[in-house]
This record gives sequence, structure tokens and C-alpha cells, in this order.
Amino acid sequence: MLWNYLRRDKKTVCGWLQRVDAEIIGSILAFQHQNKIAGSCVEIGVHHGKSFIPLCMALRNDELALCIDLFDEQSKNLDASGKGDKAKFDKNLGRFRIDTSQVRVFAGSSVDVTPGYILRQVGQVRFFSIDGGHWRSIVRNDLQLAEQTLSDGGVIALDDYCRSDWPDVTYGYSLWQNETKSDIVPFASGSNKLYLCRKDHAPEYRAALHTPYLAHYLNNSYKTEEAEIDSYRVEPFNQDEERTKMALELALKIFRPDIFFHLKNRFRRLLN
Ligand SMILES: C[S@@+](CC[C@H](N)C(=O)[O-])C[C@H]1O[C@@H](n2cnc3c(N)ncnc32)[C@H](O)[C@@H]1O
Repeated sequence: MLWNYLRRDKKTVCGWLQRVDAEIIGSILAFQHQNKIAGSCVEIGVHHGKSFIPLCMALRNDELALCIDLFDEQSKNLDASGKGDKAKFDKNLGRFRIDTSQVRVFAGSSVDVTPGYILRQVGQVRFFSIDGGHWRSIVRNDLQLAEQTLSDGGVIALDDYCRSDWPDVTYGYSLWQNETKSDIVPFASGSNKLYLCRKDHAPEYRAALHTPYLAHYLNNSYKTEEAEIDSYRVEPFNQDEERTKMALELALKIFRPDIFFHLKNRFRRLLN
């Protein structure tokens, strides 16, 4: 059910979750399942539930999920990123048969949420997705919430990191990174998300992403003073100097990932 959603059915839900990030999220959730890493799933900024649904699909019977969104309070949506809609969100949860007795909802701004509230609602968090307000103060607040509620083996996914159309996200991340006393470090970047976990767990999460599908997207491994980050982000930064074949391959990789993967496997020699 989870993989069908991540690879196919997500296309029927309005929102933002690109295929590479869907593969990364699926691989992280599968790794947590295999290694009995327990805890809740939280998302700040759910819109119509596109990326919240797979988090709910991955819950065990004794685990809970929490969504935090402004929903009807869109006057507080300071950067107009998405537009949470509770009726559409509920309908989508129903379409995918999510057990809503395992779902908690906070309708309001994440700046009014405390770590204590999250811990009381759903306990420690093993997957914390941040995709709410895109102002630096909100991103910093949301990272602090994630940091203070994350379980030992938990993962944070931060949306829109290093996106030039949302520069305050990167600014807010840097503010948090500068001041955090935690051992939380980035370990991978996807097409539109940065993934973080505690330093000790980074090697195993990086290894968990070495799948046949993601292997086609891994384009850089970058070692810093404190972390090693695998990049799965496809950026056509050399576009006007690339050979036509390469440009076509890049376009397929970004916009038609399923066709790209199929052709790559079928005509391996031809494309290499
Ligand atoms: C980009 S959309 C989220 C997309 C979603 N993650 C998906 O899978 O498609 C951003 C969402 O954040 C919500 N939002 C904006 N500012 C917020 C805040 N301060 N607190 C909580 N939610 C916020 C908006 O209502 C909107 O639904």
C-alpha cells in the first residue's frame, strides 16, 4: 500500500511530493520498520495531505500521527505557500483508508505549538516533516520543535531547503544550525528536501538510501566537518553546455522519472 501510494497514487492528491523524495521517504520508513525504530510521525504544513498520508500508512497499531496546519486561519499564512484545507485533507485520508483514531490534528500556527504539546499528543517522533510557513522565524521555530521531540533514531525532513524561490527557508535553517546544541546533522538531500538525523545514525540512513532506483539519482557525496551528505537532487545547472542526449536524460529524470527508470534499465548500454 505504502509503495503503491508513493510511486503511483500520490499523483491523485494535490500537493508537493516529487518522486525522488517519495522514494527517499519510503526507504527511510522501511528502514525504521525493519530496525524496529518506533515513534510517531508529525508533519507541519499538510495542505491536502499528500505527504502526510504515507506517514500515516507507515504507522504501527500503537503509533500516532500529528498534523499541524493553519487550515481555516489562512490569514496567518504569511508567505502564501499552499493552502491547508481540512475538508479536502479529511477526504483524502478517507480515500486511502487512514485510521483516523491514530491521527491528531492541531489547527493553527506552528509558532503556537510547544514541544511539550507534541510529546503529550503523540510521544517522541521518528519522522518529522517540516513544510509549513516559509519565513525564517517559522522555519527556525519548526526545526526547534523537531529537535526537541525527535526520538533517538528519528529523521527530520525539511522542505524547500536551498530553493531560490524560498530563500528564508535556508536562512531559517542556518539560524537553527548555528545555535543548535544537538547532534542532529544532515545526511541526504532529495529533489526538494533536506534529511537530518542524529550523527550516530547518519551512516545507516545513508546506506538505507542505496536502492536500485535512487542509485540513478545519487550525484554527489559531500563531507563537511561534522557530516557526510548524499545528494539526490537533479539540477540542470549545466544545461546550455550539455550534449542533447544528456539534456534529454536530465529532463526525463526530473519530469518523467518512471519513464527514465524504465528506459535506463531496459537500454542500460545505450544510455550509458
Ligand atoms: C507547501 S504547503 C504543504 C504541502 C504538503 N506538505 C504536501 O504534501 O503537499 C504549506 C502548508 O503550510 C501551512 N502553513 C503555512 N504557515 C503555517 C504555519 N505558520 N503553521 C502551520 N501551518 C502553516 C499552509 O496552510 C499549507 O497547507
